[in-house]
Amino acid sequence: MNRIGVMTSGGDCPGMNAAIRSVVRTGIANGIEVFGIEQGYKGLIDGKIKLLESKDVANMISRGGTFLKSARCMEFKTPEGQQAAVQQLQMHGIEGLVVIGGDGSLTGARVLHEKYGIKVIGLPGSIDNDIYGTSISIGVDTALNTICRAVDMINETASSHDRTFLIEVMGRNCGYLALMSAIATGAEAVVIPEVPYNIENIINKIKVRYIEGKSRSIVIVAEGAGSAYDIGKAFQLIGGFDTRITVLGHLQRGGAPSVFDRTLATRLGSAAVKGLIEGRSGVMAGLGGREIVFTPLEEVLTKKRELDATMIKIAEELSL
Ligand code: ADP
Ligand code: F6P
Repeated sequence: MNRIGVMTSGGDCPGMNAAIRSVVRTGIANGIEVFGIEQGYKGLIDGKIKLLESKDVANMISRGGTFLKSARCMEFKTPEGQQAAVQQLQMHGIEGLVVIGGDGSLTGARVLHEKYGIKVIGLPGSIDNDIYGTSISIGVDTALNTICRAVDMINETASSHDRTFLIEVMGRNCGYLALMSAIATGAEAVVIPEVPYNIENIINKIKVRYIEGKSRSIVIVAEGAGSAYDIGKAFQLIGGFDTRITVLGHLQRGGAPSVFDRTLATRLGSAAVKGLIEGRSGVMAGLGGREIVFTPLEEVLTKKRELDATMIKIAEELSL
């Protein structure tokens, strides 16, 4: 293998730059030229492809976002778009590809592998932590730390005013960020799509907490479970609470990656290049226990990553 490509696609996340850097430097260390593809599948179709040198990734390990840029590209879902992308890879002599992104991006990688025989390795990059085949995706740890810092700050003003705050966090259809941040901030309740909830029960629980002398309440709402504004209205109407809403939004995707994300991204980037050299394709490199494991993309994209039932129980018991 003489030439490989690397790209980031879908929603960005902290640690993508660290993963690109690792792919580039591991490639160079093993005598491989590494090409950066800008703007995900869109840039691949448009031929936005450039050779990356070691200096191009200097200082990238600590930077959030992705310097290769990311995009969502409808055209790549069509056979014409896919053929144009494959043509670009051939024109540039690129024999292997590393795709860093969420399940949509990995679906695109699977198409390249299964339909066009391109050698592809995927890396899980998404703050949502909804990807099967890895215990944690690149970006999740940083996003959780960001959420926790924000909730801790809200907690202080909530206490001063004896208020109830509903804080909406990202995660698409997955409640991982909400569940883990609720545990880590000591929230009074968490609303996630994986567990049916009853607003009145939550309201009653919080009322009891106030009667017992608690001065404030924090409810973390996963965006996949509904809008914090709607749930907040119910809190005001049914519970009569002085409620405030905070939607954390895209700040959860920004910021310098944590040490964990830097090292995870570095390990995964290195494993992807080594995997391509060993002849692997159509797989995703992920974290299994303390080891890097390769899982077929077919399995990654057909199996569902479940939330840990023990963590759900812990969140329930500790917020009582
Ligand atoms: P993420 O990777 O964060 O889940 P998306 O779901 O938006 O983000 O997917 C990113 C890109 O991956 C899409 O814009 C598209 O180019 C590609 N993609 C997604 N689904 C498919 C599919 N079924 N076939 C081919 N490409 C796809
Ligand atoms: O998948 C990552 C994510 O940040 C989700 O948590 C969120 O629902 C979505 O992307 C937001 O997408 P966009 O950046 O297109 O608004």
